[in-house]
Amino acid sequence: MTDADQEKTGLGNYFIANYPPFSAWKPSYLADAFEATNRPPVPGTPLGLYLHIPFCRKRCKFCYFRVYTDKNARDVEAYTNALIKEVELCSRLPMIGDRKLDYVYFGGGTPSYLSAAQLRAMMERLKAIMPWDATREVAFECEPGTLQQHKLETLKELGVTRLSLGVENFKPEILQFNGRAHLEDEIHRAYGWARDLGFRQINIDLIAGMVGEDWDNWKDCVRKTIALAPDSVTIYQMELPFNTRFSKELQQVGEEAHPPATQVADWPTKRAWVKYAFDEFLANGYEISSAYTVVKGKANNPFIYRDALWHGADMFGTGVASFGHLNGVHVQNVDTWEAYIDKLDKGELPLGRAFPVSDKQKLIREMILQLKTGHLENEYFRRKFGKDISREFENGYKQLQDEGWLKVTPNGVDLTPAGLMQIDRHLPTFFEPEHASKRYT
Ligand SMILES: C[S@@+](CC[C@H](N)C(=O)[O-])C[C@H]1O[C@@H](n2cnc3c(N)ncnc32)[C@H](O)[C@@H]1O
Ligand code: SF4
Repeated sequence: MTDADQEKTGLGNYFIANYPPFSAWKPSYLADAFEATNRPPVPGTPLGLYLHIPFCRKRCKFCYFRVYTDKNARDVEAYTNALIKEVELCSRLPMIGDRKLDYVYFGGGTPSYLSAAQLRAMMERLKAIMPWDATREVAFECEPGTLQQHKLETLKELGVTRLSLGVENFKPEILQFNGRAHLEDEIHRAYGWARDLGFRQINIDLIAGMVGEDWDNWKDCVRKTIALAPDSVTIYQMELPFNTRFSKELQQVGEEAHPPATQVADWPTKRAWVKYAFDEFLANGYEISSAYTVVKGKANNPFIYRDALWHGADMFGTGVASFGHLNGVHVQNVDTWEAYIDKLDKGELPLGRAFPVSDKQKLIREMILQLKTGHLENEYFRRKFGKDISREFENGYKQLQDEGWLKVTPNGVDLTPAGLMQIDRHLPTFFEPEHASKRYT
């Protein structure tokens, strides 16, 4: 591939969410996962719960998540019953020890697709199985057009602390062309209700590089987001994994056949958009909390789910196709509706594949995930792993320092601003040879 080709938004993943890569996870490792659930926990490891709600009003053309747009109320009930059954099975596992849930995350799909009554029934049953009394964060993803004031009141009352709105863009034509179901008015309405209800933290997701994006509109999106003044803003760079509608359309007609207005911007343009947005947010009182996120004051706006994952916490990943981490073993649930419901009907944990993570891989994983914050502390790794990362990863740091992406300091590592904007493409530098050249997912 030439350098110019590499800068185009081709098919495949950019974002690195875990290590070792998902392509290494196998059903043949499931025995390790079951064994891990029967061991007591490593002392001091927080425990979280992720719940996947796989319903959406419409499938966005860029989306790569496991979602369904054709399910009726009976299906939703069957699914939430299965989900609750799964949490019940998890709640009896010896790996819990005496831990209480530290964080809960409702992701999707679209958790806010459920009605207020469905959400209340589900959450009350969940809390009866695994209480939220020691839970520091309950995060909940919403698609703005699915929110009503009444639903938000219910979420607030049930204990949601971090509300995340999938805004993505404000321009009606762009939202529509990319297959989003919501309208601009719905963003403002939902945000206003959420703010009035006093949620502890409101996050807005934006995507740099939706099809049809240009500089003027992107500046407008940033301006409108700043005017709303959310506590947190997450900016993704549009990627085109293999299983999206856009990637299929592109594969069919060939990239060159598309007029520029229907192409995804190249990586340098998307990075320039993110840089512009970060600079504007910083000028308006925000701080950088990761390569993708700015917040209004880091101390007041922690993101406990993300930080727990990046520091090696345990997490039950419940729901169809969900990812979790159990006592040193990565796991993913079976990834079809039928297999998921069937496993729970039989009273079995619905695990589909796993990967037992070696001590060396745990160190690599935390190091690369924490690099996404822009900063590493030697001392943290010395205490937790008994390793000096400046020596362990000396060659990788030197290469990235020579290329201008980071700086090794006496206490750790600091990314340069340019390094932070494109950190995911550099993380494979630290992968073990057997994982370095594989497809990521
Ligand atoms: C599960 S969705 C959030 C909740 C809700 N489903 C919604 O879209 O409003 C998670 C986020 O992933 C991001 N996302 C999805 N597909 C993406 C892609 N191909 N490239 C970059 N970001 C993407 C979007 O910003 C989206 O808000
Ligand atoms: S981006 Fe959100 S709303 Fe769109 S299909 Fe994916 S999960 Fe559903």
